[in-house]
Amino acid sequence: MKTVWISIIHHTQILIFIFSICHYTQAITIQVQSNAVIAPIQGSAFFSVDIECIGIPTIKWMFNAIDKQHRIATWTPGGSVNVTQLYEERVETHFNGSLTISHLRLQDSGYYIITVTEPSGNSKDAGVLLNVTEVLYEDIQYLVVFIIVLAVLAAFLMLCVWLLNKLYRYVKAWYIKRHLPEHNATELQPL
Ligand SMILES: *[C@@H]1O[C@H](CO)[C@@H](O)[C@H](O)[C@H]1NC(C)=O
Ligand SMILES: *[C@@H]1O[C@H](CO)[C@@H](O)[C@H](O)[C@H]1NC(C)=O
Repeated sequence: MKTVWISIIHHTQILIFIFSICHYTQAITIQVQSNAVIAPIQGSAFFSVDIECIGIPTIKWMFNAIDKQHRIATWTPGGSVNVTQLYEERVETHFNGSLTISHLRLQDSGYYIITVTEPSGNSKDAGVLLNVTEVLYEDIQYLVVFIIVLAVLAAFLMLCVWLLNKLYRYVKAWYIKRHLPEHNATELQPL
């Protein structure tokens, strides 16, 4: 009797061991290309992921911020895509699970979570942090360069005007110097 029990326990252990190995090999892997993405306002962000799992998975992307959380899109590669109304026309889903969000706003900054669910029910999460930046700084840089270019152009034009003025005065003086005596002579004749 005792040996039978030991045998059953032994077999159960083996079964658990086999089960855990199967479970381990079935593990989903989600490789996120970049854990943090920085994108400018009005630009677009691309969350590139590489998924490995058994069967055709269901992919879900969620948005998580301090004050809100909502679903962005759910789809199966090759199947139908269900995009939340809030993100319609702003979201592009890719076959490999990657997601593109365009027309970014400041409030899009936050944590984006992908959940991959296998047909068997196993699922796994991965996250990407998005930071939407204002382009103000770049704008100021452009403005400064623009002002400098304008200032240089203005200085050059002023120099040109000054030189032309000088030249004009010089030519005029030279002309008068050459022609004045004759004029004087002809004009003085009648007197
Ligand atoms: C996923 O697909 C997109 C679009 O086809 C591609 O640009 C991207 O490089 C892919 N990502 C990976 C990790 O393969
Ligand atoms: C998309 O998902 C929402 C929420 O789960 C659901 O109410 C809606 O019916 C789905 N739309 C389609 C076309 O499957």
